[in-house]
Amino acid sequence: MGAEPPALLVLAGSAEARAVLEALGGEAAAGRLRIVASLAGATRAPRALPVETRVGGFGGADGLAAFLEERRIGAVLDATHPFAARISANAAAACAAQGVARAQLRRPGWEGPARRFPDLASALAAAPAGARVLAATGRGSAPLLAGRGDLSILVRVAEAGDEIAGVETLVARPPHDAEAERALMRGRGITHLLARDSGGIDGAKFAVARELGVEILLAERPPAQPGPVLPDVQAALGWVRETLGLGG
Ligand SMILES: NC(=O)c1ccc[n+]([C@@H]2O[C@H](COP(=O)([O-])OP(=O)(O)OC[C@H]3O[C@@H](n4cnc5c(N)ncnc54)[C@H](OP(=O)(O)O)[C@@H]3O)[C@@H](O)[C@H]2O)c1
Repeated sequence: MGAEPPALLVLAGSAEARAVLEALGGEAAAGRLRIVASLAGATRAPRALPVETRVGGFGGADGLAAFLEERRIGAVLDATHPFAARISANAAAACAAQGVARAQLRRPGWEGPARRFPDLASALAAAPAGARVLAATGRGSAPLLAGRGDLSILVRVAEAGDEIAGVETLVARPPHDAEAERALMRGRGITHLLARDSGGIDGAKFAVARELGVEILLAERPPAQPGPVLPDVQAALGWVRETLGLGG
């Protein structure tokens, strides 16, 4: 019996995680790599990932550390959303405890002009009464948005069923291209764009807002964990191959 191939845990939940998993499918199929993907279970109908996938929390950093040991994981790629700060902190702690290599795949944010705030609440507070706000902030922002009855808010959510009571809701799964963003912002007479600095495929809205003179109220992302931060899928693939000794 040959030696067991090295094992990679990919903390998923982002488009980049899916792209990494798809790119590594060949290595897994050839038996050179074991891959486990992990989803939080937040999306009701996630598209299947092309590798073994477990769903649900690990039970904090200790639970994740136990999982790493039990599954003999050699490296963890944290490819979660830039605002998913808790799982990233847990991954850092668990990997440190187990001596497992870890890197964070973190797509760059919006580097253009915007009014920047430490969180969504302060960004929303900066919108003047009567503003027509496109809130690209998802269902998690419901309690916040419901508190600003003096604004005309259109909130965008990714899944049907996430509509927010008392706030006009648009259900549209990303990506949203520039043409669609332009039509939406123009058509609705949007004056302010409220968003988190998530980066990635949804960046078109910022360029369109600039073009149309829509003010951007941006909640900044939480800081990255210490250690390697990889900006894109190519860099993540390079890190995985080098860390697990997979070669070219
Ligand atoms: N935050 C966002 O805006 C956003 C947007 C798009 C996608 N997502 C994805 O949705 C998931 C949850 O986001 P969140 O902001 O709720 O995260 P979070 O606040 O960082 O994590 C909350 C808890 O959910 C569990 N968890 C999170 N991601 C997990 C994963 N990939 N696999 C297994 N358990 C996970 C962990 O539970 P235990 O402590 O029990 O292990 C974690 O402590 C993330 O995977 C993220 O990539 C988030």
